[in-house]
Amino acid sequence: MHKGRDLMSERIQLQLSAMAHGGPALGRYEGRVVFVPYGVPGDTVVVEIEMSKKDWARARLLEVVTPSPDRASPPCPYFGPHGCGGCQWQHIRYEAQLGYKTAVVRDQLARLAGFSEAPVRPMQSVGEPWAYRNHVQLHPAPEGLGYISADDNRRVQPVERCLIMHPLLAELYEQLDLEIEGLVQLSLRAGVRTGQRMVIFETEDEEPFEIEVDVPVSCVLLRRDGLPITLVGWDFLEEEVAGHRYKVSAGSFFQVNTAGAEALVHTVSDMLAPQAHQRLLDLYAGVGLFSVSLAKHVARVIAIEENPISVLDARENLQRAGLDNVEVIQGDVTEMLSSLEGPIELVVADPPRAGCGTAVVTRLAELGVERLALVACDPATLARDARTLGECDYRLVEVCPLDLFPQTYHIESVALFVRG
Ligand SMILES: C[S@@+](CC[C@H](N)C(=O)[O-])C[C@H]1O[C@@H](n2cnc3c(N)ncnc32)[C@H](O)[C@@H]1O
Repeated sequence: MHKGRDLMSERIQLQLSAMAHGGPALGRYEGRVVFVPYGVPGDTVVVEIEMSKKDWARARLLEVVTPSPDRASPPCPYFGPHGCGGCQWQHIRYEAQLGYKTAVVRDQLARLAGFSEAPVRPMQSVGEPWAYRNHVQLHPAPEGLGYISADDNRRVQPVERCLIMHPLLAELYEQLDLEIEGLVQLSLRAGVRTGQRMVIFETEDEEPFEIEVDVPVSCVLLRRDGLPITLVGWDFLEEEVAGHRYKVSAGSFFQVNTAGAEALVHTVSDMLAPQAHQRLLDLYAGVGLFSVSLAKHVARVIAIEENPISVLDARENLQRAGLDNVEVIQGDVTEMLSSLEGPIELVVADPPRAGCGTAVVTRLAELGVERLALVACDPATLARDARTLGECDYRLVEVCPLDLFPQTYHIESVALFVRG
């Protein structure tokens, strides 16, 4: 049998050995890695190859011959390869999910940044492994609302209930009785510590409409340009994290796991160990989650955020907290950094999935940054940024993965880099 032969449509038996970045389990066959979604390390499985490449293959799970001790019975009826795409790991015991996520972070740092033994702490659970999401995005289907399906991102899997929705949203979802013409997306958001809830509509024509509600909830029509039109109540809700109350507008980002947001704030603060004479940069600042909690420990904060509505939220959140040593700059991080002057000692950066990138990292080095807490929602981009930071003379001190997304393959981490 020669290496690299076409395995397409072959049925093979495999022993699965690890979880891979992006969610599937993996095993080896004829010198090739075979990725098996919905497998668990320790399973012996029969699979059918769906994609065959020279060094790897992707396969469909047909039968679990011997189950792994880490295999669990998924409690959600919509979970699975042809069901809802929201959760990918309900079939893995929760404690085991934590271990596999830690291993994925280590593996990505080894592969993409060359760390033989990266200083990665064990993935920390931050709260409830179910019913944690304070924000869900639903789409219309002929049978009702649902989530994007696991096997086709053009199909919607209708769901009557969702086990990772926070109970405040689950209750709201049960009571929803809507027929909105031209509905594209409907988001439910909650401040789980304030009890405030919001329904956000995105429609084709973006024309305001009348809506009747008999529960305390705000309803907002969100336009494609990001502007909200209030239909009922207010165009924002409030959430509490680490003793601070945050205004979050309909179009502003906020962490979907409130307990996780609190764990992020504490982890970043512990890592940066801010001192009263220092200056702090809060990059990709959102509504000011980190600025509000860190500003009282430093001389000055400069926060940069692109979304103008989030910038207004952040300014209001800082004002409400009585903080007057923070400047919130609206704009693109790369552009805005070019006009800043150093030295700036501390940085917290929480970029979108693509990471900071080379231009931002090299500019931080020019500004003389001493300590950087990098919040990453993808271990692969964390590893790429870690490699660039290494080239700019930053040492990776520790990585703390925090489980903000139980039952899914998503991995949030905070990494501390120190200069020299
Ligand atoms: C992952 S969120 C983090 C927000 C905040 N740090 C938090 O934890 O709540 C990323 C934020 O970066 C903003 N953003 C995305 N790209 C940006 C860019 N190029 N420049 C500035 N802000 C950006 C988004 O609007 C969003 O608010």
